[in-house]
Amino acid sequence: MMTKKPYYITTPIYYPSANLHIGNTYTTVAADALARFKRLTGYDVFFLTGTDEHGEKIQRIAEGKGVTPKQYVDEIVAGIKDLWKLMNISYDKFIRTTDDYHEKAVQKIFTQLYKQGDIYKSSYEGHYCIPCESFWTETQLVNGNCPDCGRPVEKKTEEAYFFKMSKYADRLIEHIETHPEFIQPESRKNEMLNNFLRPGLQDLCVSRTSFNWGIPVEFDPGHVVYVWIDALSNYITALGYKNDVDTELYQKYWPADVHLIGKDILRFHTIYWPIMLMALDVPLPKQVFGHGWLLVDGGKMSKSKGNVVDPVVLAQHFGVDAIRYYLLREIPFGSDGLFNNEIFIKKVNSDLANDLGNLLSRTVAMIEKYFEGLIPAPTAKEEIDDELIGLALETPKKVEAHIDNLRIPEALAEIWTLIRRANKYIDETTPWILAKDESKKERLGTVLYNLAETLRFSSVLISSFLPETSEKINEQLSINLTAWDTLSAFDGTEASAKVKKGDAIFPRIDVEAKLKELEALKEVKEEPKVACQPIKEEITIEDFEKIDLRVVKVISCEPVKGAKKLLKLKVDLAGEERQVVSGIAKWYKPEDLVGKYVVLVANLKPVKLRGELSQGMILAASTDDDSKLFTVSIPGDLPTGSQVR
Ligand code: ME8
Repeated sequence: MMTKKPYYITTPIYYPSANLHIGNTYTTVAADALARFKRLTGYDVFFLTGTDEHGEKIQRIAEGKGVTPKQYVDEIVAGIKDLWKLMNISYDKFIRTTDDYHEKAVQKIFTQLYKQGDIYKSSYEGHYCIPCESFWTETQLVNGNCPDCGRPVEKKTEEAYFFKMSKYADRLIEHIETHPEFIQPESRKNEMLNNFLRPGLQDLCVSRTSFNWGIPVEFDPGHVVYVWIDALSNYITALGYKNDVDTELYQKYWPADVHLIGKDILRFHTIYWPIMLMALDVPLPKQVFGHGWLLVDGGKMSKSKGNVVDPVVLAQHFGVDAIRYYLLREIPFGSDGLFNNEIFIKKVNSDLANDLGNLLSRTVAMIEKYFEGLIPAPTAKEEIDDELIGLALETPKKVEAHIDNLRIPEALAEIWTLIRRANKYIDETTPWILAKDESKKERLGTVLYNLAETLRFSSVLISSFLPETSEKINEQLSINLTAWDTLSAFDGTEASAKVKKGDAIFPRIDVEAKLKELEALKEVKEEPKVACQPIKEEITIEDFEKIDLRVVKVISCEPVKGAKKLLKLKVDLAGEERQVVSGIAKWYKPEDLVGKYVVLVANLKPVKLRGELSQGMILAASTDDDSKLFTVSIPGDLPTGSQVR
């Protein structure tokens, strides 16, 4: 027997900081479709996914909830595994960075890099702002204070390990230039070369001492390994690299055929990761593919905007394959694409309910009605059949060529061309008219056979993308031959097999009603309870009254040059114009604030932030992790200068 060619595909390992959303689902569904397709077309596939569980953020969330980080991630990871089960993700291995074998292998990797001199110990010195958790150099400080929040800073020196990135930069540039397939799509390659590699790489800090939820450095356990060194290693530790148990997996599958990731983490995968591998003398992955963002109305999906789409809720309403179809067909693979409920429902109605669903239900119904449910033999061919049969026979090759180039939507478009052609064939051959004439019985049988066989082709072709739907079609048409090579001849449907009418595979959705239902759901969705910061020491009313809070109106607002976090606001305080610098640029665009009535700490000592005078402070409320922030605003037009008490 011929040995199958190995194919190794990976997804990013996701942060289990919260439940996953449709964006993470997108990457994983795409990887699953590719893995299934490669299995179908004769490859020996290894499909890896998992979770990236260490780091300060997770440690903090867990502390806030009063549980250990491990307890916290265990619960989220269980949910992620359930989600992948729901979405029919056919992974071969799920790696957790808290797995013992992974932790040991990462320690060995770090130690080797240290011993061979690629990692060295040094220290960085800076002025540390505790609330902002940021290090600043002397020249960045403003009046000796944090340039972002204006609060006092502490001088701090921290020991850390650094990776000599620059040592490998030229080799990496050469690799990227001589392997055009390495970074895909093409535009991302240029972005990496021009924005990061060519301007020169700095050594990377690869250990932390400020928290301990990480893999301890073997020979210096006060340090934990930087989370990206830990995470990226998963792609080889999962195969048994630096671990004696499963090394044959490593021999067989490394280097990976493709790391599928979102464009946000391309830099880590195309710069840090290959440099790590070069230093370890391990071959580089063949390809890193950075797909685009799944956007929702109003931009990028993010937990802070509260516009995250929950795949579990969608699956309850539409079924898993409807989601898979939309993600794979509608989002151009490699560019950004929109997730919108209305477009989604309309697409389900047109492509799945109408094109595919109707083709199946009409075919099965006619075989039941005219042939007592037994698939007739194709004994009366006519020329008009050739186009449909020819198209069916050509489609597998076209689909395979698209998938080989990771053109998933184009592959699905080819399959739908065949499905639509079959619907047209029904209109052309008018079986209901043939049925009226007993002498046309054989011809009618041939038409129905051709339809059943086209559905068999369609079922095999969609099986990697919509596995559940494919099974339903097989069941209704009693299809037994589902291997890829059975698509080389148009005769795999068994004449006289019995069809079984089932429920509509995609019932038509009432667009308006469903949209209303989804909207209502949004309103009742409860906010999860979160632990809050401890309440500060008690004060008296006199203490509080020292703070003079006033209503002001924002007259104008603009970014502060060179300070990404800051906005400069001009506010009106009872006819007096004041300038306030506020660290809220991450959450507000200047135009969102103009005209708003907000609350100002009016008697705060003025300071200069990044060279700009700030006469007071705007009040804002935020989550502990700063993922969400809102200014405190007054809903009506109180005169400016009104007191807030
Ligand atoms: O970055 N559209 O994990 P993560 C499309 N742990 N894809 C999206 C998306 C969106 N709106 N949002 C997220 C990490 N993704 C690291 C990875 S790998 C060694 C370590 C997908 O949980 C996309 O694939 O933040 C992105 O790269 C990934 O989720 C980030 O997941």
